[in-house]
Amino acid sequence: MNYVKDLETKANYSMTKKIISDALSAPEIDRESRTTVGKITSDDPRVVCKNVNVYYGENRAINDLSLEIGNHEVISFIGPSGCGKSTFLRTLNRMNDTIVSCRVSGEIKIDGKNIYDRDLDVVPLRAMVGMVFQKPNPFPKSIYDNVAYGPRIHGLAADKRELDAIVEESLKKAGLWDEVKDRLNDLGTGLSGGQQQRLCIARTIAVNPEIILMDEPCSALDPIATAKIEQLIAELSERFTIVIVTHSMQQAARVSQRTAYFHIGHLIEVGRTNDIFTNPKHPLTEDYITGRFG
Ligand SMILES: Nc1ncnc2c1ncn2[C@@H]1O[C@H](COP(=O)(O)OP(=O)(O)O)[C@@H](O)[C@H]1O
Ligand SMILES: [Mg+2]
Repeated sequence: MNYVKDLETKANYSMTKKIISDALSAPEIDRESRTTVGKITSDDPRVVCKNVNVYYGENRAINDLSLEIGNHEVISFIGPSGCGKSTFLRTLNRMNDTIVSCRVSGEIKIDGKNIYDRDLDVVPLRAMVGMVFQKPNPFPKSIYDNVAYGPRIHGLAADKRELDAIVEESLKKAGLWDEVKDRLNDLGTGLSGGQQQRLCIARTIAVNPEIILMDEPCSALDPIATAKIEQLIAELSERFTIVIVTHSMQQAARVSQRTAYFHIGHLIEVGRTNDIFTNPKHPLTEDYITGRFG
């Protein structure tokens, strides 16, 4: 008898809890809605994107995307393959200029300057907004020359001593110095995959970027090399603003404070990483993080 009473109390309790939580939570969002859910603004914005559209020929790959990226934050872009993560990432340093059919409309401002203004020089832009790719792509040159390449082009060192110092500093920041300091003249391409990726990060850092874009930087790496890069991202975020595309939700949860969920060309939801993973608001985000889609 007591047992039945107990069950009844429990059932009442859980029903009451559900009613309260339903009342407290925001109204259901329509699955078909493509208006971004969540806080797209930042309290300390570094990059301000307004109504960005990206086309490849006739096809629109990014639709009316607005988002602010904060100073020194790590933000992850997640979503099923083909949803436009790389496309949008590339708009942030005009890497998409290299794709003939690609056209961008809308506004992307970094420190108040529209990076699509005609008078803007993309060379310093790409130094300030560096990029690390999915597949480590060191030049077929020595480890030293890989890192020294950018500083040479941009004239950042007055003499060999200064260049040596930049190379050492960059390799240290990329967590690679101890492993390569005795073989700086060896080919960069001879390093392991994880070392090559850290070399590419060192090469990016060497030209004093402020923002680093990473497009699935660990997807070609083993778990140990991945863990090293993730640790590095945490260290780098003290100095840089980092935007990382990742297909690993675990990685997004580990490295980023904010997460943006993309779905077929739309920014569906953005918010604090923890909220996105524990309490997604848009049904499409929920489907993705619970593994029902993608
Ligand atoms: N260079 C390109 N030329 C034409 N279409 C492209 C190009 N790159 C990407 N796309 C298209 O844009 C859409 C978004 O792709 P992408 O940004 O690579 O997605 P994701 O990085 O999320 O996998 C896809 O439909 C893809 O086919
Ligand atoms: Mg991609």
